[in-house]
Amino acid sequence: MTKQRIVSGMRSTGKLHLGHYIGVLQNWVKLQDDYECFFFIADWHALTTKFDDTDSLKQNIRDITMDWLACGLDPEKSTIYLQSLVPETAELHIYLSMITPQNWVERDPTLKDMAKILRSNENEAPSVSYGLLGYPVLMSADIMMFNADCIPVGSDQIAHIEITRDIANRFNRIYKTDFFKEPKPKLTEVPLLKGIDGQKMGKSFHNDIKLSDTEEDTTKKIKQAITDRNRIRKTDPGNPDNCEVVFPYYEIFAKYDQITKTCEECQAATRGCADCKMQLASIVNDYLRPMREKRHELEKNPEYVDDVIREGSKKARIVAQDILAHVRELVKMY
Ligand code: TRP
Ligand code: SF4
Repeated sequence: MTKQRIVSGMRSTGKLHLGHYIGVLQNWVKLQDDYECFFFIADWHALTTKFDDTDSLKQNIRDITMDWLACGLDPEKSTIYLQSLVPETAELHIYLSMITPQNWVERDPTLKDMAKILRSNENEAPSVSYGLLGYPVLMSADIMMFNADCIPVGSDQIAHIEITRDIANRFNRIYKTDFFKEPKPKLTEVPLLKGIDGQKMGKSFHNDIKLSDTEEDTTKKIKQAITDRNRIRKTDPGNPDNCEVVFPYYEIFAKYDQITKTCEECQAATRGCADCKMQLASIVNDYLRPMREKRHELEKNPEYVDDVIREGSKKARIVAQDILAHVRELVKMY
């Protein structure tokens, strides 16, 4: 039986944090055995908002690649590639942009949110570009470039995938074909990992733990994590259900008996929050240690990392060229 095909990507905007790992990467790593996987670094999508800040573009690409490999994405199992090294995607994007009604992109809710954030950051010129408006169309090109069956993404990307399904259907209808599949989002039930301040984890909020942070930095950050706000003194009994960040982290990273012990000692006031956080820091550091060690090895070997990107992109291109040739035929290009 042929394996179903998966495509997914991440924008290269910096080093990845624990939220990326728990929310997305861990899932990708597992999918590698059962699906034919294409994972790519969306450097063009990074440009939709960071077009004027390209000094760090190359380093960001290397960083995300190292984070991926350190987490267990395996170039022997999956095709790991760079979006801009598969320029067929750009040509497909052009055909798709011709058939996409303007109001489909304008009503994309994820894009509306992005535009709102951009507008609130800006002091002078408007920064929502033509390219940003085409974000979901470019994403559709990424997905349709490999005629993927499913897309493992977080729930924030569902609206985009809906547009992709609509575009795929419209292409099929207009060019009288059934060539493109209707790609399905593949959601997994993952616990939401909050930032240490209890808000959504994100690097711009300075509340994230990076996969590549040192153990000392990790410990420092966890020491600032929010606990049960009603527990003032160590002698007050705590309530793990009201513990905003620390206890939920235990539930994700600690072993079963560590979780129950934490719960008991918290409620009996035999464990203080400072101590509880120190223990958590050591659990999280143990959890991340193998990935961090692997990442250090990769940092010493930039040629290998570069090779992974280039070889993966070559492999991806062969598949993409085949699909693009077919698309050109269907559209009846010269
Ligand atoms: N928009 C996605 C994100 O911000 C990244 C992305 C670009 C993507 N193209 C894609 C994800 C295609 C899945 C499929 O995370
Ligand atoms: Fe949270 Fe631990 Fe403090 Fe209890 S002891 S409130 S679980 S940090």
